[in-house]
Amino acid sequence: MPAIVLVGAQWGDEGKGKATDLLGSAVEYVVKFNGGNNAGHTVVIDGETYALHLLPSGILTPGVTPVIGNGVVIDLAVLFEEIDALEARGIDTSPLVISANAHVIASYHRVLDKVTERFLGKRKIGTTGRGIGPTYADKMNRLGVRVQDLFDEKILRQKVEGALELKNQILAKIYNRRAISVDEVSEELLRYADRVRPMVRDTSLLLAKALDDDQTVLLEAGQATLLDVDHGTYPFVTSSSATAGGACTGSGIPPTRVDRVVAILKAYTTRVGEGPFPTELHDDAGDFLREAGGEFGTTTGRPRRCGWLDAVIARYAVRINGVTDLVMTKLDVLTGLESIPVCVAYDVGGVRHDEMPMSQSDFHHATPVFEELPGWSEDISGCRRFEDLPKNAQGYVRAVEEMSGAPFSVIGVGPGREQTIVIRDLV
Ligand code: IMP
Repeated sequence: MPAIVLVGAQWGDEGKGKATDLLGSAVEYVVKFNGGNNAGHTVVIDGETYALHLLPSGILTPGVTPVIGNGVVIDLAVLFEEIDALEARGIDTSPLVISANAHVIASYHRVLDKVTERFLGKRKIGTTGRGIGPTYADKMNRLGVRVQDLFDEKILRQKVEGALELKNQILAKIYNRRAISVDEVSEELLRYADRVRPMVRDTSLLLAKALDDDQTVLLEAGQATLLDVDHGTYPFVTSSSATAGGACTGSGIPPTRVDRVVAILKAYTTRVGEGPFPTELHDDAGDFLREAGGEFGTTTGRPRRCGWLDAVIARYAVRINGVTDLVMTKLDVLTGLESIPVCVAYDVGGVRHDEMPMSQSDFHHATPVFEELPGWSEDISGCRRFEDLPKNAQGYVRAVEEMSGAPFSVIGVGPGREQTIVIRDLV
């Protein structure tokens, strides 16, 4: 039975939470396979808004087992804050399962994230400051602390000591910060050991058995294609693998078991943090998208940078992820525009690029080549079938489909769970 991968096609905040939620009732497992509490999903159910950062959005669907996979980095304080907040609102979080191999974010990771950004000055990445990059760096440096280490105090202390040895030198001598003690960190982490223990499993084995038993597994990416550490706009990316390939390494499910790859594409583009963004708008049109689309960060509250849809990026995301189904979100936000520009290629120093330029410098200097598509003024938030959409809204979807090279299966026409047009079922 199927493993389905769900990824963002742009720079994040495409509205994946809604798609996961839509799939939620048809799947048995929802797996978060990368990132940490740098993510932000807003899910609206029956008029109630839930903002999730670390927990997979499948946690809101009864009958689903939410899984935090080995590729995730976990801030345990945030984990339990989110669990407690959901429990207080009547959501049963007891089915949550966590990989023993997931890495843990400690206080020194958060401190290093912030001081490094400050130190970088003009070259800063604009991180969420949640310690994500330093935790993944430790993982790759083989200096990380994993969830399983919480259950052996001696080992935990050894690992924390190993991690702090060099970091304390850096904190004290370069950043002029106080050194962090092994005791302090061990206590910070051990505080959660008993509470987390019953949730911890060999999640790759669990998922393999689930697939053997004909159950459906949804692998949900945090962040998005252009924030992927390999395939994104490096170095202005997150530190994990947010594309479909990452779903396998971050969960232990092999590529041969993945049947479908669904990518979420917002009807326009947004980005938070620094880095190139060819279709970015600095005028009233950008303010219009930000206000109409409510484009303020779920995690940080930062206003998002806004711009028109970029079909070069959409096509790239379809190729890198092997997308079988596209989901367009927030089509309703474009209502009321007379015509809608879509970027179909880039101009780099007089040379036309129909695909993502190979070099970072070219991408930094790319100016969009726009094609204007006719807009619509009718309220589309009540449409439930594709044929209900105004002709020009249908035309917009079809044009973007043609440009990106994968079919749209779902169109979002409002924030509510029911404000969705399903052209082809995702499961
Ligand atoms: P980090 O993931 O906190 O290291 O931040 C690296 C970059 O990824 C920054 O530009 C962040 O703004 C961006 N980023 C991280 N998580 C998200 C997300 O969920 N949505 C959009 N951008 C994100």
